Amino acid sequence: MKRAEIVSFRDVIKSGRFSKYTPSLLIAKELGLKYLIVEENNITGPAVGTTILVDKITKILKIENMLDLCCGTGALTKIAIENGVKKIFVLDKNLKAVKENLKPLQKFIEFIEGDIFRFKTTEFFDLVVLDPPRYLIEKIVERFDFSTINTNLFVMWHGSFSEEGWNSYVRDKLRNFFDKVYSFSVYGEELSVCSGTHTGKKMLERLMKKW
Ligand SMILES: C[S@@+](CC[C@H](N)C(=O)[O-])C[C@H]1O[C@@H](n2cnc3c(N)ncnc32)[C@H](O)[C@@H]1O
Repeated sequence: MKRAEIVSFRDVIKSGRFSKYTPSLLIAKELGLKYLIVEENNITGPAVGTTILVDKITKILKIENMLDLCCGTGALTKIAIENGVKKIFVLDKNLKAVKENLKPLQKFIEFIEGDIFRFKTTEFFDLVVLDPPRYLIEKIVERFDFSTINTNLFVMWHGSFSEEGWNSYVRDKLRNFFDKVYSFSVYGEELSVCSGTHTGKKMLERLMKKW
């Protein structure tokens, strides 16, 4: 397991380790996030592609509730709340950053600290977003029990658009669980948007039309 540090936005900028124009820092600044997560000298999120996709989905579609898996700083949850989503479950093995960042929005959020592989819920979601660390993706697509996640739409980040073989491997695995798996390349990042239900398929069609 890699070592992650929770660092304040101010200290990250002061340290000079990262340019202030680093995309994750620009997004964090726009969202007013006070804490970031630094792992092995990299800021782990929020990434540009996932941020834009979640912003578009929660603006274009009517999303009543959402599950933010591997929520990290809580950036995606903050965007969803700004776009009108009223109930969000957030899960991460470390909730320190998200709890600090989203303190004023607590009434919209259910915090769950734990391992994604042990997570079970009976809740039905309009949208589930999974933004995992790259090193965990193979284990997720091979071993995660997607049947425990009931959702209209499922969104997952899986890397760079240039890794064609890898991206089709991830998508083929997702096709074992979801009827429709669409690929989205957003600013060089590759994401899959999957529909798990008839309503999810309609939502996906609307998203493609309005994108
Ligand atoms: C790419 S970051 C997520 C970035 C996030 N979307 C954001 O905007 O900050 C991946 C997150 O996965 C979490 N994570 C890693 N392994 C996990 C596991 N087994 N269970 C739950 N969370 C995990 C890390 O703590 C980290 O916050």
